[in-house]
Amino acid sequence: MCHNCAVIGEAVRAAATTPSRRSVARLLAVGAGLTALSACTPDAGTRPTPSSSTTSSPAASPTAATSPASAETSASTSPAAETASAPTPTAAATPTSPAAGLARQHSLTDPASPWLVVNKHRPLSPADYVPADLVQPNVPLAVSGEAAQLNSTTAAAAEQMFAAAARDGVAMTLASGYRSYGTQTATYNSYVASRGQAEADTASARPGYSEHQSGWAFDIGDGGGACGFQPCFADQPAAVWAKANAHRFGFVVRYPWMFHPITGYYYESWHLRYVGVEAATDMANRGIATLEEYFGLEAAPGYL
Ligand code: DAL
Ligand code: ZN
Repeated sequence: MCHNCAVIGEAVRAAATTPSRRSVARLLAVGAGLTALSACTPDAGTRPTPSSSTTSSPAASPTAATSPASAETSASTSPAAETASAPTPTAAATPTSPAAGLARQHSLTDPASPWLVVNKHRPLSPADYVPADLVQPNVPLAVSGEAAQLNSTTAAAAEQMFAAAARDGVAMTLASGYRSYGTQTATYNSYVASRGQAEADTASARPGYSEHQSGWAFDIGDGGGACGFQPCFADQPAAVWAKANAHRFGFVVRYPWMFHPITGYYYESWHLRYVGVEAATDMANRGIATLEEYFGLEAAPGYL
């Protein structure tokens, strides 16, 4: 079964009709067999979801060694840069903390903190953490059960954001919310079984390392399904709207285009993370794309 046909076809069409840098980069990435998986879905093992990008780089260059602009250019001419089965540790977050200027401060390690930073160097503690305040937000749902839950703060912010998107005529669904340690174990193992561990690690967090387990993160869809968890989702109204507006509700796109050397994961235009309106807006205004850079933490391209 050709899991990547739709992706490849979409990329070919885009490159043929709009030979922009981004469409060419997408074609090169997909054509070269980029198969970073979208581990944000429980049925990850059957889903073809290379996490290359279809959108432009962040508005401003981060202070990491590899700027998104240079990385994007590199991807346009050298697909190998995006086809590595695991992110290359070529960038390091700058050891400064812009967040220090904000009025409110929160823990970066407490899983109940909105500023929690979970990445391949920073597992949840405890590993089997369960949010105490999981609730189901009143938003259009594409899932049920635990996947339809978020922690209460994130749920309230999501309700505001989804309502605003709807007012703007943008369809948005909650496609994957909370994931228990057990669910993440099954999800990750499914990816490993289908694609091997190296590729799985570019898209799926290992159990105890996923933001989904914290209740602070969720994936959006648009109810259409064709591009759900796919690179082409970045060009859909829901993702375009979220990229432009999510910060107003306290969310960031946690795994931006070409920042995998810092975040450890390929672009996930659907994965939103709550950090609070103040921090998210500060990041947007400063053009800081990743939490690692914002909080002055080391890049986390791979597990220690
Ligand atoms: N897809 C993200 C990295 C997760 O599995 O949490
Ligand atoms: Zn996700």
